[in-house]
Amino acid sequence: MIGVLVSGGGTNLQALLDAGLPVRAVASNKRGAPALARAGDLPTASFELSDYASRAERDTAMADWLQQHDVDVVVLAGYMHLLTPQFLERFPARVINVHPSLLPDFPGAHAVADQLAAGVRESGVTVHVVDEGIDSGPILLQERVPVLEGDTVETLHERIKRVEHRLLPQAVEELLCAR
Ligand code: GAR
Repeated sequence: MIGVLVSGGGTNLQALLDAGLPVRAVASNKRGAPALARAGDLPTASFELSDYASRAERDTAMADWLQQHDVDVVVLAGYMHLLTPQFLERFPARVINVHPSLLPDFPGAHAVADQLAAGVRESGVTVHVVDEGIDSGPILLQERVPVLEGDTVETLHERIKRVEHRLLPQAVEELLCAR
């Protein structure tokens, strides 16, 4: 069963739900994340860092909650915090992330703006297994996305997201089938 972690608008969560994947729980590091509203009747919970003594304690509480909901595969769908070893060891090689660049190029929280600032002609989408680094870990799927003349952060991100919404469900499906 899949648990999804979100921080933002949740369009990738929506793509997973629309693909009919077995999402069983949705958690966020932000209480007001708009993505949580997309979860419908699914259980949701927020784990704000400020409510815990440390990041490790927060991540342990989040892993406990996910496992209570029978989650064994965790998908980061726009989740913008690094995960601690205390979380990752609970789901070994079973946490995956989608990122709006051709990793290892342009990791981080501002990848789309960084790519435009760097003047790249080609962007992309990467789905990868999560390790303790920033948007690092073994790559599962990657697809190129063109950068067009006059692109803004919004127009490029929109084009990237259209690819994310296809690639992320595909990667999750393949991971579930391989198990
Ligand atoms: C997506 O573009 C995702 O690749 C990116 O956040 C966006 C979330 O959109 N993730 C990262 O940058 C991770 N480093 P969404 O909330 O609409 O799914």
